[in-house]
Amino acid sequence: MGTLIVNGGRMLDGKVSVHGSKNSVLPILAATILNSGINEIHNCPRLRDVDAAIEILRCIGCKVTFEGNTVIVDSTDAKNYEIPDELMREMRSSVIFMGAMLARLGRVSLFTPGGCELGARPIDLHISALKSLGAHIRENGGAISCEARRMRGRDIVLSFPSVGATENTMLAATACEGRTRIFNAAREPEIEDLQNFLVKMGAEVSGAGSSTIVINGRKKLGSVSHCVIPDRICAATFMCAAALCGGHVRVENIVPEHISTVTSVLDAVGCDVAVGRDFVDIIRTGRLSSFRCIRTMPYPGFPTDAQPPLMALATKCVGTSMFVETIFDGRYRHIGGLCRLGADIKTEGRVALVYGVPKLCGCSVEATDLRGGAALVVAAMAAEGRSEIGEIHHIDRGYERIEESMSCLGADIKRS
Ligand code: UD1
Repeated sequence: MGTLIVNGGRMLDGKVSVHGSKNSVLPILAATILNSGINEIHNCPRLRDVDAAIEILRCIGCKVTFEGNTVIVDSTDAKNYEIPDELMREMRSSVIFMGAMLARLGRVSLFTPGGCELGARPIDLHISALKSLGAHIRENGGAISCEARRMRGRDIVLSFPSVGATENTMLAATACEGRTRIFNAAREPEIEDLQNFLVKMGAEVSGAGSSTIVINGRKKLGSVSHCVIPDRICAATFMCAAALCGGHVRVENIVPEHISTVTSVLDAVGCDVAVGRDFVDIIRTGRLSSFRCIRTMPYPGFPTDAQPPLMALATKCVGTSMFVETIFDGRYRHIGGLCRLGADIKTEGRVALVYGVPKLCGCSVEATDLRGGAALVVAAMAAEGRSEIGEIHHIDRGYERIEESMSCLGADIKRS
């Protein structure tokens, strides 16, 4: 599994390029089943979750190659409708295959991905949306079997703008007779990327980025070539690292508007932030001040996935910063590690108060989840002395060789 060894306390300087978005490419990989054809996906990050999705595609019968950052999926022979439990457990997003397989094969048997490190994570919204479209779904313990002889488009109102439920509904709706409208849809950039992919394939989908998405189903779908958008959470992590460690960093290959909530916090705490067409410069020389309150919200609000790295930054801001985590109930597990590194953080329910300290000190910590693990890396880079970060398989789920990205900015970080 390996650990990351960090000798902290170095200022950062240089440029880092952001890889393709994990949360975009996963539903796009699921969508490749729809067309019985060739799908070429560029700017695909090399991540553990991507490998897990590719394994599922192969299990279904697709031929997949992955060279450099290009994945080619030939879904002509996708026939197997069963995804075994061990593949489902590899990552929660495997649930996204439900809508795509229903659309292509008319049936799917899989297992609930179960709870994960962020809390319970139910899939009730996915299930009820697919049922509304005409799927018969039986749940037996963790096993789920779905069948849909004939799916019809209709109006679906999500009680919460769930990213996964929006994506699953979009995928299933491509095979529905007539029009599906999704109200209170998630508005994340990754939903728009999925729409763009589906439209290139020949599907009739519009509205992504707003809260109403319209899909006219049963269009002829053909082969497609697509380039995945940059990973906005990865960009946010590099930006927080630059702000915490100090120095001058350019984060390249980004869509600035996707991370504008993070940019404005860094500006408010005292960084010099310059936004270019596809990059952002972060310059930090003096000490930073705290911020009043960050409340995580569905897009375009502050992303829950950027909360842990921003909390790492808050540990050394002068004064007290407050977080309110509204999306996931188990999203504070990195706080134990941050406190071991010397942070002063108190939590009560969904609220965390971060009292800024003048310094962090290196020690051994363990990643408990993907973004929490990245927050520990960022904090260790700013801590005095040596840190060892264990359980880094969590981090590898979403960052392509994080130690190389941070090293090219001047951090002393190695995998051992
Ligand atoms: C996606 C992202 C994840 C991000 C999250 C919120 C991917 C692969 N993952 O996860 O990185 O943190 O969006 O931006 O894209 N919920 C229900 N019932 C459901 C579905 C969701 O109660 O059927 C709840 C969840 O428990 C959670 C909230 O809704 O509290 C948000 O979940 P959702 O938007 O669905 O997140 P994911 O798609 O799982």
